[in-house]
Amino acid sequence: MKVLVATDKPFAPAAIKLIKEVMDGAGFELVLLENYTDVADFYKAVADVDALIVRSDKVTAAVLDAAKKLKIVVRAGAGYDNIDLAACTAKNVVAMNTPGQNSNAVAELAFEMMLHQARFGFAGKSGTELRGKKIGIHALGNVGKYVALIAKGFGMDVYAYDPFVSINDIRAADVKPCHSEEELYSTCQYVSLHIPLDEKTEKSIGAKLLRRMPKNAVLVNTARKEVIDEEGLLQIMEERNDFKYLSDVAPDCAPIFKEKYVDRFVFTLKKMGAQTAEANINAGVAAASQIVDFLKNGNDKFRVN
Ligand code: 3PG
Repeated sequence: MKVLVATDKPFAPAAIKLIKEVMDGAGFELVLLENYTDVADFYKAVADVDALIVRSDKVTAAVLDAAKKLKIVVRAGAGYDNIDLAACTAKNVVAMNTPGQNSNAVAELAFEMMLHQARFGFAGKSGTELRGKKIGIHALGNVGKYVALIAKGFGMDVYAYDPFVSINDIRAADVKPCHSEEELYSTCQYVSLHIPLDEKTEKSIGAKLLRRMPKNAVLVNTARKEVIDEEGLLQIMEERNDFKYLSDVAPDCAPIFKEKYVDRFVFTLKKMGAQTAEANINAGVAAASQIVDFLKNGNDKFRVN
């Protein structure tokens, strides 16, 4: 069996070494396509492989058309909005993710960005502290739970809203439940986004919700830039000079922020949430092991299509 790792943003070398060990142990061949800039290279590399590991790389119908022997694709990470699931199903390709494996790294990045803005980029100006501030976790999944843990360490007052987690389970995580998005945004100075990107959540965070946030509001987005209604966000940035936006990956409207709202944003250059050796190892090895277990034993536990 031949397995391709195709990543335009490569894993840490330590992760690749361990992925190779898993493949060697199974008697599978590992092929690497890292740092590719031309999708044609992806089409070529995928042509004769049985399995594929990707990160945020787009697995489109065209990629699947080129992958004549493909049986399984694993997104080494949580969000699988980059995979055309319908096309996978139509071509009899199993799609999986590796939930939870990179969650701590993403949660830590949320705090790195919060601290950066609270201290004005460490440039000498007097800032503020996180202690005692209210933080609202929008969706209490794997990342949200790590955010809650870390927030408590900082002495923050932690709230969450998640329509898919019961109030009792939210309380069991030692977090104060909110009953609606509106309640969460009205209550919390900090809101940390952990919703997936899908048809329902795309552009779902806009002016109406953001306007509710208390004074000195900070919206932290380590989810997907597409969940934000950027027009609404810009409206709020204009209306409120106490509003800040922190995002793992700059929004499309970043040039406007750079021109008009200096000191009121933190944007990463590339998507950096899961970019740690630990997260790469956890997600990469999980992806490799899931492929081996599926191809050898038919185990499709983490299947998403
Ligand atoms: C995820 O969904 O797991 C994160 O967004 C990580 O994305 P990345 O693997 O492209 O860094």
